[in-house]
Order: sequence, then structure tokens, then C-alpha cells
Amino acid sequence: KLSAIDTAKFVAAKRACDFIEDGMRVGLGTGSTAEWLVRCLGELVEDGLKITGVPTSTRTAKLARQLGIPISTLDEVKWLDLTIDGADEYDPDLNLIKGGGGAHLQEKIVATASDRMIVIADRTKQVDMLGAFPLPVEVIPFGWQTTKALLEETIAALDVMGDRIELRMNGDAPYITDEGNHILDLHLGRIGNPRQTALVLNQIPGVVENGLFIDICDIVVTGNGDGRVQVKD
Ligand code: A5P
Repeated sequence: KLSAIDTAKFVAAKRACDFIEDGMRVGLGTGSTAEWLVRCLGELVEDGLKITGVPTSTRTAKLARQLGIPISTLDEVKWLDLTIDGADEYDPDLNLIKGGGGAHLQEKIVATASDRMIVIADRTKQVDMLGAFPLPVEVIPFGWQTTKALLEETIAALDVMGDRIELRMNGDAPYITDEGNHILDLHLGRIGNPRQTALVLNQIPGVVENGLFIDICDIVVTGNGDGRVQVKD
């Protein structure tokens, strides 16, 4: 029997599968919720659904392969019909924080190259204002401490509450993304102007991509522990 949180993730993933049609090119997200999606999709493919999946991480690619889902790359397919992914937070405008799982760079590229992005989530991801979840920023390893100092200076001038920045670790070593970069987690507390924050952070040399998804998500499917599902667009 599934726990309430896994039930919520599973029912959201299952409902999102209703948006998938034969022949579609589908972006496959990363994280524990997206894993449920890939599992549901695996069953549909086994039952005859014809789709091409484009994974957003090596982790997701591995799982998709194991389940027999045909996968390709973004460069191969160029454009996608739909991307389904999890999120760390979503606000009433369907703006997101992503990257808790460290894959927001590929996730943003894939979601932006899709006609539609659907986020699947449990209730805990819903917030009035983004920022309680630390905002992940992928940075080039070269000079990362200088990039961190520039980020500190930059966020001091933004409409945010917190200013602590942490290098994400993997045990004793810095976490390394699929693209060979580091992640700085910005503890901002509240992000008053997510659009401005997203634009300004990406102007800093050494920053590859931040985890704010602005005007990218079209639909959020939220699952509840009792099996109910809400769809918001
Ligand atoms: C991965 O990089 C993230 O963007 C995930 O989509 C996000 O962290 C949500 O993950 P969970 O579904 O595990 O909460």
C-alpha cells in the first residue's frame, strides 16, 4: 500500500498521462514525482502507446530505458508536443521553482522547447509566494566562489527576504550536474518579483541557469493523499 505522499504523486502522474496521445514527442522530467510518470508511461507503452520520450537527466533516461520506453534526444526531435515534470514549488500564476533534484538546466531547455508543459505535484508544492524552497542556480565550476560573491551582491538588491547561499554537496565533494557544473542553493525565503529575479540572476557571468520557470508551465495537476486530483491551467 502506498503512503499518502506517494499516492498523491501517483494519481497526479496518472492523470497527466491523459494528455498524452499516440505519436507525441514527450519530455520526461526528473525527480520522485516524474518517476511515477515514467512508470505509468512504461505501462501505457507496454499496452501499445506509441510515443518518443526525451529525458531531462541521465537518471530519467536510465529508468525509461529499463521500462522499454523509446527515447530520443532534443537535438534529434528538435521540438516536443508536451513535457511532464515535477516541481519544488508552484505559485498561483503557475510560476515554478525547480532543480531540487539538480536537473533544472536540462528541464528548462526541454520544457521551453515544448508546445505545453504540465507539472505534476502533491499539495505540499503549492505556495502563495515562491522562495521558501532554496532556489537552485547552476554555475560553471571555474571561479564559482567569485560567482557566489556576485550572486550575494545581486540578491541584496532584489525584493527577497534571505541572502544565504550554499554550495550543494554530494557527501564531501561538490555536487556535479549532468553538464559537469556546480549548484548554488539560494535561501531567499520569499521572492517578491520572480520574473525580475530570473532575468537578473542569468546576467551574472558563471551562471548557467536558475531554477525559476516563468511563463513556462501551462497546467498543474495536483494529487492528494486520498486519491483526488485537481487540474489548474
Ligand atoms: C529536478 O531537478 C527537479 O526540478 C524536480 O522536478 C523537483 O525537484 C521535484 O522533485 P520531486 O518530484 O522529487 O519533489
